[in-house]
Amino acid sequence: EEAVQIRQALLAWYRQHRRKLPWRGDAPPFDGSTSNTNTKKDSATYNQNATQIPPTPYGVWVSEIMLQQTRVEAVIPYWIQWMESFPTIEALADATEEQVNAHWAGLGFYRRGRMLHQAAQYLVANNNNDNQPVQLPQTVAELQKIPGIGRYTASAIASIAFSRQVPVVDGNVCRVLCRLKGIANHIKAPILKDKLGWELAQQLVEGSSNGDAGEINQALMELGATYCAPSGTGIEPGDPLIEFYLSTKLGEAFLYEQQQQ
Ligand code: ADE
Repeated sequence: EEAVQIRQALLAWYRQHRRKLPWRGDAPPFDGSTSNTNTKKDSATYNQNATQIPPTPYGVWVSEIMLQQTRVEAVIPYWIQWMESFPTIEALADATEEQVNAHWAGLGFYRRGRMLHQAAQYLVANNNNDNQPVQLPQTVAELQKIPGIGRYTASAIASIAFSRQVPVVDGNVCRVLCRLKGIANHIKAPILKDKLGWELAQQLVEGSSNGDAGEINQALMELGATYCAPSGTGIEPGDPLIEFYLSTKLGEAFLYEQQQQ
């Protein structure tokens, strides 16, 4: 079946090529290098002595909010400093607005940082287990009740942090899926992402093994950020993915787009 094939190829590619990122629990000292196919790397300058920060649902949440309008390379130092200063939801809730703003300075869109802060205070205020650390809920529906968490962020947290079998679609993922299916993506109709994209992604995570949904979702994000970028840059002949890529409609559509330019 096609979905099985695509899933296997995606996961194999991701496990081999995925970037080492601090919110994925990758080991210290994280030096800012991202072993991927993207040649446009920023030289990140930040605390090189950062100790390893264990992956937590809270950390995944923070990363997803930071990544919404900012590139991975730029987010890395901000995420590390944020997690060092506000290691838990309680610590974030206790922070002042000035502290939060200071940590966000440079990321842009301060509203995102303020929303995170308010959401942490909301979670603390609504915590029923008085003697337990505040935890994020695990389902998309519960996560979406938290201020500032929409469908995308809820699905990302549920799949990546809690192994829930749910799809995640953003603009990058939608482009990958459309190319995969040979669907023209240049029509910027919301229905493409809001309906078709989520349906295609659902087909891919449906029937996957327990715990794979988060990896499938991240593989699609990663593919969209590297090989399957809007301009389709980053393809290096001889890469093992190319064989798979060119054997699918994804490759055909990519080659077609290249010819049109
Ligand atoms: N962009 C948004 N979320 C991401 C993630 N979890 N991994 C890589 N890139 C992302």
